[in-house]
Amino acid sequence: MVAGVVKRAPGAAAVYRVGGALAAEEVEMARIGILTGGGDCPGLNAVIRAVVRKGVNVYGHAVVGYRDGWRGVLENRVSYLTPDNTSGILHRGGTILGSSRTNPFKEERGVELVKESLEAERIDCLIAVGGEDTLGVADKLTAEGVSMVGVPKTIDNDLSATDFTFGFHTAVQICTDAIDRLHSTAESHNRVLVLEVMGRHAGWIAAYSGIAGGADSILVPERPFDIEEVCEHIRHRHQRGHSFSIVVVAEGAVPREGQESLQTQEKDAFGHVRLGGVGVWLESEIKDRTGFDTRATILGHIQRGGTPTAYDRVLATRFGIAAIDAATEGDHGKMVALQGTEIVRVPLNEGVGTLKTLDEELYETAEVFFG
Ligand code: F6P
Repeated sequence: MVAGVVKRAPGAAAVYRVGGALAAEEVEMARIGILTGGGDCPGLNAVIRAVVRKGVNVYGHAVVGYRDGWRGVLENRVSYLTPDNTSGILHRGGTILGSSRTNPFKEERGVELVKESLEAERIDCLIAVGGEDTLGVADKLTAEGVSMVGVPKTIDNDLSATDFTFGFHTAVQICTDAIDRLHSTAESHNRVLVLEVMGRHAGWIAAYSGIAGGADSILVPERPFDIEEVCEHIRHRHQRGHSFSIVVVAEGAVPREGQESLQTQEKDAFGHVRLGGVGVWLESEIKDRTGFDTRATILGHIQRGGTPTAYDRVLATRFGIAAIDAATEGDHGKMVALQGTEIVRVPLNEGVGTLKTLDEELYETAEVFFG
C-alpha cells in the first residue's frame, strides 16, 4: 500500500481552499476506497455521498466503492463512485454499497487477499465505515501496514471515543414512536406491554427511547435485573391507580439469575451469537407473577431501516467530510469522532479498544420514573 496521499501535483489547478489544512493545489489525485461493514444503519449513504462529493469535486480523487463490506475487498468487487451516481442518496436508509459481517482475519490468506485487492485497484487509502467489528479489522490492518481511516457507525452507540455514532438517533426515534403507539393500546386494554429493542452489549437505545417514551421500567445489558423488582414496580404503579405499564428491554439484558436470551447458538465471523427473546420471557414472567395481562413486541430490524433523521444525516455528512480530509492529509490509522460539538480524529484502537457502555447517570435519571 502507498503510505500517504498528500503529494504535490505540479500544475494542478487551484480550485478551493480546503477548511484549514490543505489547498486543492497541494493534493495530487489519489484513489480512495470506501466500504460499509456490519449491521447497516441509517446515514451510511450520507457518509458515502460526502466522501465522494468532497473527494472528487474538491480534491480531484477517484473513489472506489467496495461491495458488501470486507467480503467485497477479499473478492475485489468494486463500483466506481461519482458525484452523479451518488446523488439523491442522502435521505435513503441502508447502504448503496451493501454490507456483510465478513472478517478477513478468519479467512484463509485473508490479509494477503485484502492487500492484493487494494494493490490491484491502486488504493491509496481505504475508508471503512463500521462498528466495533469492521473498525476492529481496520485497526488490525493498520498494524499490517494498510492505510486506513475509520468512520464510526452503529445504531447501538457503543463505540468509545465518540459521543455519538450516526444511526443511533434514528433508532431511538423509531423506538420512541413505537412506545408512543404501545401506550395507547396498553391503556385501552389495561395491559403491561414489553418492548424489546436492539442493544447487544449496551443499553443506549433502551435508555434513550425509554426516557423519551416515558417507560415504567428499562432493562439494559449493563445491569442484570431482578425480575421480582420489575414486577414490584409494575404492581406499585397499578396500586397508584394506573391500569397499564410499559417495559423497555434491550435484547442483551439478562435476569440476575439467568442468561442472555438467544435466537440461535450459531456464531458469526466475529463470534457473536444472535440475541433475542428476552421480551417474550418477560411477557410470561410478568403475567405469571403479577396476574396482569402482558404482551411483548420485538421491534427488530425496523430500528435499522428507513430514512435517517436530520441529526444523523448531518453527523454522517460531517464524518464523511472529516474522513476524506484525513485520508487526503495522510493522517491514517485514525477514526473520526464526535467529541462535544467538534469532529476530531482519534487512533483507531481508541475507538474499538473497549465498548462504551451506558452512562450510570443517565440510567439513574431514567430510574426516577420507574414504578
Ligand atoms: O450491531 C447492530 C445490531 O443492530 C445489534 O443491535 C444487533 O444485535 C445486531 O446488529 C443484529 O444484527 P443482524 O440481525 O443484522 O445480524
